[in-house]
Amino acid sequence: MSAKHDVLRLLEDSKGKTLSGNDIAGALNITRAAVWKVINTLKEEGYKISAVNKKGYCLEDENDILSPQSIKPYINNVELYDNIIVHKSLPSTNTEAKTLANNSAKSGTVIISEQQTEGKGRLGRKFYSPNASGIYMSMIFRLKNPIEQSMLITSATAVAVCRAIKTVCNLDCQIKWVNDIYIDSKKVCGILTEASVNFEAQQLDYIVIGIGINVTTDDFPPELSEIATSLQEKLDGVIVSRSKLIGEILNEMDVIIDDLENKSFLKEYKARSFILGSEINVIFPTVTRRATAIDFNEFGHLIVKLEDGEIKTLSSGEISIRKV
Ligand code: BTN
Repeated sequence: MSAKHDVLRLLEDSKGKTLSGNDIAGALNITRAAVWKVINTLKEEGYKISAVNKKGYCLEDENDILSPQSIKPYINNVELYDNIIVHKSLPSTNTEAKTLANNSAKSGTVIISEQQTEGKGRLGRKFYSPNASGIYMSMIFRLKNPIEQSMLITSATAVAVCRAIKTVCNLDCQIKWVNDIYIDSKKVCGILTEASVNFEAQQLDYIVIGIGINVTTDDFPPELSEIATSLQEKLDGVIVSRSKLIGEILNEMDVIIDDLENKSFLKEYKARSFILGSEINVIFPTVTRRATAIDFNEFGHLIVKLEDGEIKTLSSGEISIRKV
């Protein structure tokens, strides 16, 4: 590891506190001049580090640049998540994660980017991913569960993200089937799951789960401005630590993956869903049908009653709430 990486780790571990140049140099077995040089490089990269005269250096609390070092202090299972990779810019963290997974990246690998130039949404849509204002992350998991349990990971992830947002921001989120997360009727997060199937083993070889959260985003393009919101908007400008939220999401994912077998999270998924009982449009590939959302089954599939009385179970797809 480089001196920059090591200095950053020490500063992150003592965020908000002052560390003397001598102590940093001693801990890392480098010269004070080398410490000074690294601190200047970090400042040039945008880190807010105050140099307190004669006392040392302090990484300020409101610093929100993402790095493995900024996230690791918030992670419980450091063994699972020991491969966190942060990029300044990527076309899509899901695409990058799939490339790594195809090249044997281990379960628990996490890819994060400060921005995405071709962020992917469900059904071939784009996910708006401007620089340094959101969380754009993809996790690789290699689950040993049978396929039908692994397929529950998308609903489980929605619940995990809601829990993490509640813990870190004290905001209550709702879920719009399949996996959009809303606050007060506006979308704050989308989830895109992609997988590679191992037919012989009747298992998924790997799953890539991509999560996009609008954290401070406030300049949505016109087509999103009425339907999207950000955490910061809902918190009246109170600052959210992206590192802390990412850490908490990873912790909740670790917990909820253990629950895939007993499906206990489905109760919470249902409780957080705001479409049950609503009049909806079900958008099939060639036709849109009116329906009422009735229930979820044990696989997280949506049960609807179409206008002609036919009951249908939807495993995926698109719905919209009908204004009546
Ligand atoms: C949706 O709203 O339709 C799903 C959006 C998923 C966006 C995330 S951002 C991180 C990951 N990388 C991508 O390209 N997409 C997902």
